[in-house]
Amino acid sequence: MSRVFYLQASPRGTESFSIAAANAFVEAYREYQPDDEIIVKNVFDMDLPAFDGMILDAKYAIMHGTSPSEDQKKDWARVEEIINAFKAFDKYVFAVPMWNFGLPYRLKHYLDILVQPGYAYRYTPEEGNTGLVADAPVFVAYARGGSYPRGSEVEYLDFQVPYFKTLLNFMGLRKIETVVVDSTLGTPQGSSASLENAIRRAREIAENF
Ligand SMILES: Cc1cc2nc3c(=O)[nH]c(=O)nc-3n(C[C@H](O)[C@H](O)[C@H](O)COP(=O)(O)O)c2cc1C
Repeated sequence: MSRVFYLQASPRGTESFSIAAANAFVEAYREYQPDDEIIVKNVFDMDLPAFDGMILDAKYAIMHGTSPSEDQKKDWARVEEIINAFKAFDKYVFAVPMWNFGLPYRLKHYLDILVQPGYAYRYTPEEGNTGLVADAPVFVAYARGGSYPRGSEVEYLDFQVPYFKTLLNFMGLRKIETVVVDSTLGTPQGSSASLENAIRRAREIAENF
């Protein structure tokens, strides 16, 4: 039995295209793997600690072996809890919207907590960066209002897919399947050919995920 983490990064609920595509994936996956446990969270509902000076002080006190205060230890324990919870899963599913060509700030906040040296990756001069998250299968459903086709003159504006993929790879996650829902602005879900294609592909990917 696998434990699957399904993280949604849109606050738009049933209006969300990325969630609609990821839900289709998860529904199909459930049919193939009915015994798996799927934990669903939305970054907009998660209790994420502010990643500010306090927590950075705690991080550096712990990293540099100076004695952290009790408050610093408590702050850092919360960060460790979030990282360890993430690393404990066997498979990952993400629903990721494009905001201002990149990721929604709440997802970026979550990633800034997660991607810590010694936890999500390790750096040594000999080996460079090594991801410390087990190389589990990942499915990502991206959505964006516009369209950024490969080879087009607007491709360079897409900081969503390359950035998220880079961070997943950086943590050690390399088995990544994706679908992209384009041109969502002004298109109702029911008449989006891009969503329909993404859902069809998502269901195919679910079969062997
Ligand atoms: C704050 C904000 C910023 C956005 N920025 C962009 C953008 O830079 N490029 C784009 O193509 N669409 C942009 N959009 C549109 C979303 O990408 C689009 O609505 C997409 O469907 C969002 O995913 P969701 O439907 O899963 O919420 C933006 C939407 C919001 C709310």
